[in-house]
Amino acid sequence: MTADPTGLEVELFGLRFANPVLTASGTFNFGREYAQAFPLRRLGGVITKGTSPRPRLGNAAPRIAETPAGLLNSIGLENKGVDAYLQGELPWLREQGTRVVVNVFGDTPAEFAEVAAKLAGHADLLELNLSCPNVHGGSLPFASDPAAAAEVVARCADVTDLPLLAKLAPNSELLRVAEACEQAGASGLSAINTLLGMRIDLQTRRPVLGTGMGGLSGPAILPLAVRCIYQLRQSSSLPILGMGGVRSWRDAAELAMAGADLVAVGTATFNDPWAAPRLIQELAEGLGQLGLSWTELVGAAHRD
Ligand SMILES: Cc1cc2nc3c(=O)[nH]c(=O)nc-3n(C[C@H](O)[C@H](O)[C@H](O)COP(=O)(O)O)c2cc1C
Repeated sequence: MTADPTGLEVELFGLRFANPVLTASGTFNFGREYAQAFPLRRLGGVITKGTSPRPRLGNAAPRIAETPAGLLNSIGLENKGVDAYLQGELPWLREQGTRVVVNVFGDTPAEFAEVAAKLAGHADLLELNLSCPNVHGGSLPFASDPAAAAEVVARCADVTDLPLLAKLAPNSELLRVAEACEQAGASGLSAINTLLGMRIDLQTRRPVLGTGMGGLSGPAILPLAVRCIYQLRQSSSLPILGMGGVRSWRDAAELAMAGADLVAVGTATFNDPWAAPRLIQELAEGLGQLGLSWTELVGAAHRD
């Protein structure tokens, strides 16, 4: 008899995950609203909303636009700031019996480190959102600049013992940024974040979003996520947290075969608040029928 009858348990970063399915940053807040629908301990983990050193108001409305196969968002990283979350949402989330990943961002490497330094004892892992603009780097995102991304990771590694996941963007620098982050001390890679898109309204002949452009997520980006994760797996031995367009257990299995050790469900939760727990249930059944465990599936597309 095996100790894990579900075949879904994962051991990574010295931590046990009940299953490999988490909820993606910015799509699940801190989980409190969803805890009314299902117990959060059914999830492998919750990745929180992006958290900065001080409160941020976010972008002008409208902030969300539908697309044929997903969503455009320009939320602008609105959040209450780390100190407020340390007082309320994080202590609550830590009691829910699931892994807690805090998504961190800042305008500078020092701001990332300021947040990271406060989170010991309040999180299992930190996910560093490198897609935000580097204000001292011409506002180019950290995820487009290997040296800037590495500085964020190194500054955070100096101030915390928590494992650090570098969250990467699906751009041409993906592999160079991943390598730089690994050398700077990242424990894992997280991919992919959204990519810039735009919609224009026929009546007003103006962009639909208040900021013009926004991040594209949802089913449209699944093949892009599969490709990025596959390439990351080829070039890095770090664990990968994969995301991008996952709606079904088959999508999650595809990211695993590309190389993801864990996966996150994002935009799908907006369509169906039960998307993540339903996927976990279906994953257990689907893998059971195939006679495979999750860990046997991870990286399968790379084996002869
Ligand atoms: C409304 C919204 C807000 C998001 N906020 C964040 C964020 O604060 N930090 C971050 O790293 N990613 C953020 N993301 C990106 C998601 O975590 C995820 O990487 C991306 O949406 C791809 O997954 P999906 O297609 O399953 O949504 C956000 C995505 C959406 C749709």
